[in-house]
Amino acid sequence: MGNIVLLDELTINQIAAGEVIERPASVVKELVENAIDAGATKIDIEIQNGGISYIRITDNGKGIAPDDMEIAFERHATSKIRSAEDLNNVVTMGFRGEALASIAAIAKVEMQSRKQDAQEEGYKIVLEGGNVLEKGEYGCPTGTTIVVQNLFYNTPVRYKFLKKDYTESGYIEDYVTRLALVNPNIAIKLINTGKTILQTTGDGILKNSIYAVYGKEVAEGIEEVNYTYEDMFVKGVVGKPEIARSNKTNQMYFVNKRYVKDKTLSSATEQAYKGLLPIGKFAFCVLNIEMPPSKVDVNVHPAKLEVRFEEEGKVFKAIYHAIRNTLLSHEMIKEPEKNLQKTIENKEEQKTVSVSAIPTNQGKSLRRTI
Ligand SMILES: Nc1ncnc2c1ncn2[C@@H]1O[C@H](COP(=O)(O)OP(=O)(O)OP(=O)(O)O)[C@@H](O)[C@H]1O
Ligand SMILES: [Mg+2]
Repeated sequence: MGNIVLLDELTINQIAAGEVIERPASVVKELVENAIDAGATKIDIEIQNGGISYIRITDNGKGIAPDDMEIAFERHATSKIRSAEDLNNVVTMGFRGEALASIAAIAKVEMQSRKQDAQEEGYKIVLEGGNVLEKGEYGCPTGTTIVVQNLFYNTPVRYKFLKKDYTESGYIEDYVTRLALVNPNIAIKLINTGKTILQTTGDGILKNSIYAVYGKEVAEGIEEVNYTYEDMFVKGVVGKPEIARSNKTNQMYFVNKRYVKDKTLSSATEQAYKGLLPIGKFAFCVLNIEMPPSKVDVNVHPAKLEVRFEEEGKVFKAIYHAIRNTLLSHEMIKEPEKNLQKTIENKEEQKTVSVSAIPTNQGKSLRRTI
């Protein structure tokens, strides 16, 4: 007699959670991405014990209809794509339909939501270990609030691998900082155990977010980048040589607002700054490349931490010229040298490679409490 069985739903969700939810910062990432996809202009994040015992995210986005609340926690349930074809053109942060199911399988989750145009009351649902404990109408403001408690309470192996509270807090703070930088039009607030760690106004001015995160010296040492290269648009800021640091933690790259850590992008920056920085110093930059979604594959990893470019060489050139152009227009450099131009041409010959995004920098961050 055979002994192969189909796994039950909770086991399947816990396996998926193993890939999607590595630590509390992954929960914050998934929930905040949902808030962004819902069109929120204000997102409040509150954590306790490094997010292990408590995470609360409140957004003023479009909300969820009562009929959709329970199904949102089913695996492969999404409002963001309809067919495999849509994977070629993903315009939202989420699309896999598994984050909420994964989180609910390994924690206690409460969600309350009210649609923006709703006549009726809001709705609330409580789940634990994937089971619905409570659901029903609930008076609440428009938008969505989700509370996640006791993460990994039923997955002791994963729980054991968590670091100390302050390290887990650091991972969350790093993530929220990057998020604030690439979304200056969203008012973001992070509270850790009653203390406001980060707060941005959401006025759409990147320099103000940079000021909120890094302070005056950095805010005064940057120039804005707005550069179109073929079908790509590079937007953000680059630092003057005076604010260069001795490591690359202040170089941040985003592709369609998704954070990526990528050698091609950092080597384009290095080339662009050639001759301007002493050896061992690295430029400050926060750059978002907007490109057609069909030219970047975001469905590479369950945690969506990797992307693949169709034309890597062009992406290199876009970053290189965007920085070079900004430096030139602020008279920090003269015309580009010929040999550098040649390096750029060679880069275009290269094939597509995988780009990985590492979500943390060991809990160390340069955030500033305001
Ligand atoms: N804050 C929110 N506001 C409005 N709708 C939400 C919110 N959070 C979740 N949803 C709804 O619940 C659905 C399921 O969310 P979930 O995060 O599990 O999947 P997803 O975002 O579609 O894909 P992914 O697994 O890649 O994140 C979403 O598609 C969305 O319709
Ligand atoms: Mg999601």
